This record gives sequence, C-alpha cells and structure tokens, in this order.
Amino acid sequence: MAQRMTINYEKKPCYDIVFTSSFDLLAEELQALGIADRRVAVIADSCTKKLFGDAVCGQLEGNCKKVVVHAFPAGEAHKTLDTVKDIYKTLIDEGFDRRDLLIALGGGVVGDITGYAAATYLRGVDFVQIPTTLIAQSDSSIGGKTGVDFDGYKNMVGAFYMPKLVYMNVSVLKELDDRQYYAGFAEVMKHGLIKDALFYEWLLDHMYEIHDREDSVLEEMIMRSSTVKKLVVEKDPKEQGDRALLNFGHTIGHAIEKAMHFEMLHGECIALGMVAAAYISWKHNWLSMDEYYEVRDMFVPFNLPISIDSIDPEEILKLTKADKKMESGQIKFVLLRKVGKAVIDRTVTDEDILSAIREIYFSDEDEKA
Ligand code: GLY
Repeated sequence: MAQRMTINYEKKPCYDIVFTSSFDLLAEELQALGIADRRVAVIADSCTKKLFGDAVCGQLEGNCKKVVVHAFPAGEAHKTLDTVKDIYKTLIDEGFDRRDLLIALGGGVVGDITGYAAATYLRGVDFVQIPTTLIAQSDSSIGGKTGVDFDGYKNMVGAFYMPKLVYMNVSVLKELDDRQYYAGFAEVMKHGLIKDALFYEWLLDHMYEIHDREDSVLEEMIMRSSTVKKLVVEKDPKEQGDRALLNFGHTIGHAIEKAMHFEMLHGECIALGMVAAAYISWKHNWLSMDEYYEVRDMFVPFNLPISIDSIDPEEILKLTKADKKMESGQIKFVLLRKVGKAVIDRTVTDEDILSAIREIYFSDEDEKA
C-alpha cells in the first residue's frame, strides 16, 4: 500500500507525493490527473532512460494520446539553457500543446530542467516528478524550484513552478552507486538537523538498515525527510524567509563545490558545509562541544567527508561572497540553535567563516604533525 502526502501552496492543496516501492501504481496516479487525451513527454537523462524508461513508458502506453521520450546526456554540465532548448524543439516537433504533460524521470538535474521547460513552454504546461536519486527524492523534487546553471553559477536562471504529482518509488535508490547514495543522504541528515531531532536520532538508530537500503526503511526515511521539507516550503514557498533554513551547510558547501570545479558531489560538499556551520554554532555557544563533535562524526559512518585537503581557505571565503544567499552584501548564514532547530543568522563574520573553513581543512602540515 502506497502512502501519500499533500503539499499545500498558498494554503490550498497543490500536489500529492506518493511513496511506494515500485512503478506499479504510476498508471493509476497519472490517469487520476486526466492524461487519457493528452500527449506525454518523458524527459530523462542517458542513464535514467536506460534504467527506468521502459518501466515508466509501460505504465503510459495505452493510457494517453502519445508518448515521447527525450533524453539528454547525464551530468550537471548539461544543466543549461541549451538542454532546455532541445526539449522545446522536441515538444514543437511532436506537436505538444498547452494541455500536454511532461514527466521528469531522473535526479536533480532532470527534475530542475524539466520543471523549467514545463514552466516556460507555451507559458506553462503540467509536469510530474519521478525522482530517481536520493537527493531528488529527499529534497529537489519537492517545493517547485526549477532552473538551470548559467555561466558557472548554479541555479542562476529559474522559476518557482509546482509539479502536479511527485511519484517516489524508493526501490530505484538501489540502482545508485554508493557514492551517489551517501551524497544524497547528506540532505536527509540536513532535514533532521534543521527541524527534527527525533528524525536525526532515528537515522542514527537505523544506520544498518539505511546501508542495506531496505524498502520499508527507505520509505519511512523519505517520508519523514519529506515531512520536514513540506513544513518549510508550505510556510515560505518562495524563499522570502524560513525556506532559507534548507540552505544549512550550503554557503560554504557551494563555495567548495565551485572551488573543486564540481568534481565533488553536491552532498559531499554540503556535508563539509554542515560541519563548518555546526562549528560556528558551537563557537556561538549554541551547540556544546560534545554536540558539535557528535554532529561532525555522524557523517563518517555514512561515508561523507568531514575534512578536505585540496582547498585554499581564503579562496573558499571569497567564493562564499558570490553565493546567492547574500542580501545587500550580508551573508544569511544558517546555524543550529540546537540539534533539530536551525536559525538564520546575519552576524556571522568573515573571521567566523574562515575559522570554520580552517576547521574542515586538513593540510599536509596536519598530516606531518
Ligand atoms: N533545496 C533547497 C530548497 O528547496 O529550497
């Protein structure tokens, strides 16, 4: 039996998230959206098309007017306006009109790009998210952020545009390699740390089942993680206030991601950013020293980094300034008031940030010492 959750937008029910462990219910869910006389374009990347394209198309065949599959090469490097342009071309060639529907079948890149194409094609067509990575299931498929990278800046061009349905089949997470899986886990952990201490403890208690990727545990993990995301995006859908709490670990994390030329995964950089932010929270006397070390060390069993040697701390500080989370030249830094309660702080200084970066910086000298 699938579980479901409704996400409200401006206090009205907007779309449902379905939590399940197969694609068996997809046809039924899409029929409920009224697809019988509509064209459907499945937008995937080269990997997700190969892995899940047939299963998803099998649910569509005979249930809608026409099915088109459009795939683009996998990877963040393709999260560009050129990729969106290719999608527009396919939609025009296949005669898609305003009543037709797009399905995003993939991770964060596919979801963000498809959402942006849906938001802009003919001034807006419906779209459905079928997230296939842990990062997409726990974070990016919920809340209507869509967009592309531009000129080396992440998510620089985009729109808030809500899907009609998010279909979470947790069994697809078994296809992820360990590195991708654990990188996604960083965002799950983030949700516990910023808003739900009981969930954070549940994650630690279920470490072995999470490693084994048991369906029932994955379903509960994704549901509880989504509950935090729901609370935040319903309160502040357009990031005018509290939604920024979801950026915990992202100021320094994004800067590391950029300095490493996107060779490290987003979740790995965010884990480092969360350690640094937890360190500043300790220095602000909000976390105790024990709590800081517990938060830091808890990333280790989930194969996430807590230190890095290949950065220049001064350069990372500089890069934090280029982050979109600056307002009138001032950084909105997310800190932990305690485990399970994050706050937005505008008093964090360059010295605080630099000392936090030095805390996670593991230099050759450290090794020699
Ligand atoms: N991934 C952060 C947000 O959805 O706001």
